[in-house]
Amino acid sequence: MMFDEVDAIARTFEGALRVAEGKALYHLARTNDKGFVVEIGSWKGKSTTYLAAGVQENKHGYTCVNAVDHFHGSPEHQKNGPVFTLPDFKANISTAGLSEEVDILVMNSVDASQIFDANEIGLLFIDGDHKYESVRSDLDAWWPKVAPNGVIVLHDVGPVGGLPGPKRVLIEELTRQPTRVKDITFVDGMSIMKKKDKE
Ligand SMILES: C[S@@+](CC[C@H](N)C(=O)[O-])C[C@H]1O[C@@H](n2cnc3c(N)ncnc32)[C@H](O)[C@@H]1O
Repeated sequence: MMFDEVDAIARTFEGALRVAEGKALYHLARTNDKGFVVEIGSWKGKSTTYLAAGVQENKHGYTCVNAVDHFHGSPEHQKNGPVFTLPDFKANISTAGLSEEVDILVMNSVDASQIFDANEIGLLFIDGDHKYESVRSDLDAWWPKVAPNGVIVLHDVGPVGGLPGPKRVLIEELTRQPTRVKDITFVDGMSIMKKKDKE
């Protein structure tokens, strides 16, 4: 599916992802040649849809998005009581015609990381709970699973609409430069960085 086609659908889905961010995810998923694609935090499937449309065009064999979420929302979603977004998630992915490209892991993020072997993820998108401790534990749990030169995307780090937890984690990663990550770029509120081949 081409970007304009998926964008016309995904932009109608509820979610905070910006169009430029969706475009970046689409292109990263389309060109990924390093390993599996994993998304932490899928909510109602907006970002998943961009990733899934990208993997559909992938020529390197990585044609599935592993969407990890317990679907009970983050604290900011639970202010008016319990939520469960899995039915909306499935409906949106189906509306986009991308159900075949999405493997749903209804699990806690850190538990789901145990399913994957070291160095087998090519593209990791982290957009789960935004508390500092949660972003830190997500990145720490998934880090060993990302292949050398694999891409790690953190949402809500700024410069547009950054939140304190993800921002603090990014600053820690930047401070560790050049030993951990390289080639850091930003698209709206997202950072995109590559894991170094040698730490
Ligand atoms: C900001 S939303 C994700 C938005 C989504 N990426 C989009 O584009 O619409 C955060 C999601 O993370 C999920 N989440 C929070 N903590 C989690 C955890 N520990 N394990 C799995 N999912 C979690 C919530 O259920 C929620 O759906």
